Formats: sequence, C-alpha cells, structure tokens
Amino acid sequence: MQIGSRTRAFVTGASRGIGRSLAHALAQRGATVGLAARSTSALEALAAELPGAHHPLTCDVALPASIATAVEDFVAAAGGLDLLVANAGIAHYEPIAEQGLEMIENMTAVNWLGTVHTVQAALPYLLEQGRGHIVVMSSGAGLRGFPGAAAYSATKAAQRMFAEALRHELAGSGVSVTIVYPGEIRTSLHDHERGRMPEWYRGGPDAASPEALAKRILKAVERDSRHLHYRPFVKGMGMLHGVSPGAADRVLRRLRGDSAAPRRGR
Ligand SMILES: NC(=O)c1ccc[n+]([C@@H]2O[C@H](COP(=O)([O-])OP(=O)(O)OC[C@H]3O[C@@H](n4cnc5c(N)ncnc54)[C@H](OP(=O)(O)O)[C@@H]3O)[C@@H](O)[C@H]2O)c1
Repeated sequence: MQIGSRTRAFVTGASRGIGRSLAHALAQRGATVGLAARSTSALEALAAELPGAHHPLTCDVALPASIATAVEDFVAAAGGLDLLVANAGIAHYEPIAEQGLEMIENMTAVNWLGTVHTVQAALPYLLEQGRGHIVVMSSGAGLRGFPGAAAYSATKAAQRMFAEALRHELAGSGVSVTIVYPGEIRTSLHDHERGRMPEWYRGGPDAASPEALAKRILKAVERDSRHLHYRPFVKGMGMLHGVSPGAADRVLRRLRGDSAAPRRGR
C-alpha cells in the first residue's frame, strides 16, 4: 500500500519513542493518525503539534475492551482503517532468578497479549475492507535471547511467530503484515532501569534514532516487506544465530564483551 493523504493509520505506543516518531512520519505524509497509549496529555500535545487533524485515543493494550473501543472510535472518527501499527511495549531487564513474576506478567500482557488484542480489534475492519497493512514491532531480542532479557526476549519472540503465521494466514485477503526487528533505539524504553542494564547493552545517546527507523518502516510497508531489521547488524546476528548459535556467541563476545554470551562451549 502507498501511504498518503488517504491513509488512516492507528499507532499504539504513540505517546513516546518509536510510536511518536512514526506518528510524525505518517502525519508528514498526510495520513490521519490514531494516537493510542495510556498518557492522555502526551497524546493530546502530540495531536496538537502534528500537521493535519489526528485522534488522541487513551487506551491500555493489555485490556482487550480498552483497545477495542479505541480502534472502534478511530474507525468512526476517521471513516475507516488502512494501517495498524502494534508498537506499544515495555521492558524490564533483570536475571530471571531475581525478577518478580509481576514484571514478567506485565511484559506478557502488554508486549505479547497486547499485540494479539490490538490485531484482533482491528482485523475485522481490515478484512471487511479487503485491504490494509499490519506492522508488528518485535525486536532483535526476538531473534536471539540475551542474558538479563529472558522474559522480554520471550515476549518479542512470541510476537515474531504470531506475525509470521498471520502474514501467511492473511494470504489472498488483501491484508498484509510486516514484522520489525529493531536493535537498540534511542528512546525512553529503559529509562526506569538505566542503573541496572546489563554490560552488553549499548542503548543510550549513541543508539539508532527512532526517526530514521520510522522512515524505514514506512518504506517497508509500501514495499510489503515481510520484515525489517534495523540496523542491518540485527539481520546478520539473527541469521548467524539461526545457522550456528555458537558462532553468534563468539561474534557477540567480540562485539559486546563476555556478558553478551557468557556460557562457552556447545
Ligand atoms: N527502544 C529500543 O531499543 C527497542 C528495541 C527493540 C524493540 N523495541 C520495541 O519498540 C516498541 C516501542 O518502544 P520504545 O522504544 O518506543 O519505548 P518507549 O519510548 O518507552 O515507548 C513505549 C510506548 O508504549 C506505550 N505503552 C506502554 N504500555 C502500554 C499499554 N499498556 N497500553 C498502551 N500503550 C502502552 C507507551 O505509552 P504510555 O506509557 O503512555 O502508555 C509509549 O508510548 C516496544 O514494543 C519495544 O519493545 C524497542
């Protein structure tokens, strides 16, 4: 699909980070954007600063009824839906032996089940129309697990498999799916845990920009790409891990130090 002034796009996690950059990129192309997240004031401020008329939609993707109402309200206000971006997410990095079950349940509810709730809320509209596109925001951590990120990686791998199957399931329906695998992007995702990030982590001021990623996502949608890895290192790492996890261990140790793959041998 081409993105332009007739595109009606619904973006979850639009109040900050990657979702906010996507909202900017979409609005600059003339699209009407449904801005979904929990922080009403941030969404209203964003809607006011974007060119064009957009729709702030307060909702919680962990709650099926909440996201369903937000999608319904957007469809009523915008007159339909063409592009859905299931981007909302949270991260808690901690060794599993120390991580509370509540954190794991929260990540599961928002990242993984939140994606299911979002897609199930929007899919009937896209199918009825017979065209549309879904973007699922997974992560490089869904391609290769990292120590300290076991539960987060699991939610991102769940999104990956869900979206891979969905892309095939929707063959012939006019609706397609692109899966995005970002590496470390400069956002507030880990702001609450900056003091305890693993040594291998390279996020922060030097990480890739969400604005550059947003532009690449729009291109991937227009090309109907199966997936987008950003930056390209993520693709190389995922491919190498698929062929030889041991070789991926060695490369990661060289690039990120021993903490990235501390167990040696087979
Ligand atoms: N940054 C990275 O390095 C990176 C790398 C790979 C993948 N990702 C993925 O990219 C996505 C966006 O993350 P980000 O880096 O942009 O993080 P961010 O700056 O923290 O933004 C996260 C967004 O998700 C929203 N959100 C969180 N919980 C929600 C809920 N229950 N219901 C609705 N919205 C919710 C937040 O808004 P409210 O708090 O207002 O609800 C916010 O808009 C996530 O899925 C993340 O896993 C990020």
